[in-house]
Amino acid sequence: MKIKTVEQYVDLYRKSVQDPEGFWGEIASEFQWKKKWDRILEYDWKKPEFKWFGGGELNITENCLDRHLDEKGDQAAIIWEPNNPGEEERILSYRELYREVSRFANALKRQGVQKGDRVCIYLPMIPELAISVLACARIGAIHSVVFAGFSSKSLATRIDDATCKVVLTADGGYRGKKTIGLKAIVDQALEISETGSVEKVIVYNRTNQDVVMLEGRDIWWKDAIAGVEDQCQAETMEAEDPLFILYTSGSTGKPKGIIHTTGGYMIYTTYSFLNVFQYDPGDIYWCTADIGWITGHSYIVYGPLLAGATTIMFEGVPTYPDAGRFWQIVEKYKVNQFYTAPTAIRALMKFPIELVEAYDLSSLKVIGTVGEPINEEAWVWYKKNIGNGVVPIVDTWWQTETGGILITTIPEVLHDHPTFAGKPLPGIQPMLFDESAKEIDGFPASGRLAIKFPWPSMARGIWGNLERYKETYFSFGDRYFTGDGALRNERDYYRITGRVDDVIIVSGHNLGTAPIEDVINTHPLVVESAIVGYPHEVKGNALYAFVILRGDVDNPEALYKEINGKIAQDIGPISKCDKIQFVPGLPKTRSGKIMRRILRKIASGETSDFGDISTLLNPEIVEEIIRTRL
Ligand code: PRX
Repeated sequence: MKIKTVEQYVDLYRKSVQDPEGFWGEIASEFQWKKKWDRILEYDWKKPEFKWFGGGELNITENCLDRHLDEKGDQAAIIWEPNNPGEEERILSYRELYREVSRFANALKRQGVQKGDRVCIYLPMIPELAISVLACARIGAIHSVVFAGFSSKSLATRIDDATCKVVLTADGGYRGKKTIGLKAIVDQALEISETGSVEKVIVYNRTNQDVVMLEGRDIWWKDAIAGVEDQCQAETMEAEDPLFILYTSGSTGKPKGIIHTTGGYMIYTTYSFLNVFQYDPGDIYWCTADIGWITGHSYIVYGPLLAGATTIMFEGVPTYPDAGRFWQIVEKYKVNQFYTAPTAIRALMKFPIELVEAYDLSSLKVIGTVGEPINEEAWVWYKKNIGNGVVPIVDTWWQTETGGILITTIPEVLHDHPTFAGKPLPGIQPMLFDESAKEIDGFPASGRLAIKFPWPSMARGIWGNLERYKETYFSFGDRYFTGDGALRNERDYYRITGRVDDVIIVSGHNLGTAPIEDVINTHPLVVESAIVGYPHEVKGNALYAFVILRGDVDNPEALYKEINGKIAQDIGPISKCDKIQFVPGLPKTRSGKIMRRILRKIASGETSDFGDISTLLNPEIVEEIIRTRL
């Protein structure tokens, strides 16, 4: 499954295009199936519908756990590093993880969870989060992990959308110096939940906080597993049975519950993990993401465990107790593959270099980034200081919807190059297209990025909204549209230039502008608002809100805080705006559409080149907004 030379890459790539079914069939044969598939691929772009390994039956956790017990039973599966370096780490061998997962799977069953039920997981980065995910998969329940930084409202929306039956949470969590209450947020969420679908809440005690336990609904984790067996027969799943739902922001409306299914996701996460990180048996792999995002699903839990790897889970933040924490952990466990976000690198490079130099990073063989474009300066710093000038960087491009890494370099096979993510993995057929949806051939080329052939881990739908799935991703012909713009150079390398829709990537988090504007607009003093992104040194992009008020405001600073407080409460702190400018109007077309292109330029500090604004309904407003720009 592992590509070692460029010749192999070229050969495999060709094979994957000429005979995709043969290519994927061979890879799929390396897994444990309860029943082999009948058809490798059936698809219809128009419907749209994609079926991989139809007729095949399996359980993904047998492939993550049972399959490794003979050879790797005593090998560390998960190494958990706590927030506080003074607290002891927890190491779970494959055998221990197998038992914990089985035990909790039985506990879920005892609470009435059945195959197909949705389970919401709102947990901090503790081993129980990975155990919960796998326990759901063991019994065929569909997990919906919600990042534990989301507010009660956001949590309620997600619980309601998927009509979850059970919520798994903790009393609280530690992040740096802070102790966060999670159970209280769940309580609020369930109070405002409109469906009332949640029957049980299982609560892990992580921080010893006082929490309210509702009789009949809330159960402590330790009671839930008391007297439960640590062997659990894995449910038989069809390859296309949903494995999980994970919410991601769209440019409009409520978050999209992206659906991933079992067989194809399993194969693609393993295949991409092994190739992109060139993982060798015995290596220690660390991805710093949170399991609340797709990166954590695919490359902390599923990919590494499917590949029989040792995967590190880190509870804390990069700057606690100081900004050398990442490097201290790399030294402590002799990490071989390190995978993080550009925003973390940009934040850490601002600190004295002694915080890096204090640690031995010589174990590193591959260092990676994900989530947003990595700017050249950060790339060069990463390579020089973390990679000792020689360790290959993988700048991996992918999305919640793609399930796994699609465009990247491969260490020692395809060379890294700053600002270019790289080439498609074999099996992935990217294309660029222009405004009339026509494919752009050759190079240099610049256009919208799409994938023109199905791949096993592609999203199969949006929970409860097939129409939106179709509209968002399949409106430009027989291809999957990514929402990103990209360039292609003479080496056939792709450079991702950013979103072409109203999604803004802030610190690697995908934020849709419309839901944040909706929150701002509910403030009694606000008439209308428009949010755009502008370049930010650490975050990559930050949010700039232009807000029209009813009348004058006495204390703009207080209003700024109030609006951001409301955003934090209703959505979560990551969606707060760095700048809020109060304006008398917004530039609009004659049909009433806000000209975001102009606002983006203003927010980025440009003073000219606004194009033809004479056709605007209110061209004079542009000057006025520039004059009072923040
Ligand atoms: O714009 C691209 C950006 O992140 C988006 C996907 O966000 P999300 O679904 O949250 O998944 C993030 C983790 C996979 C993409 O549409 N993006 C992701 N990776 C890169 C990137 N932009 C540039 N370079 C990357 N390596």
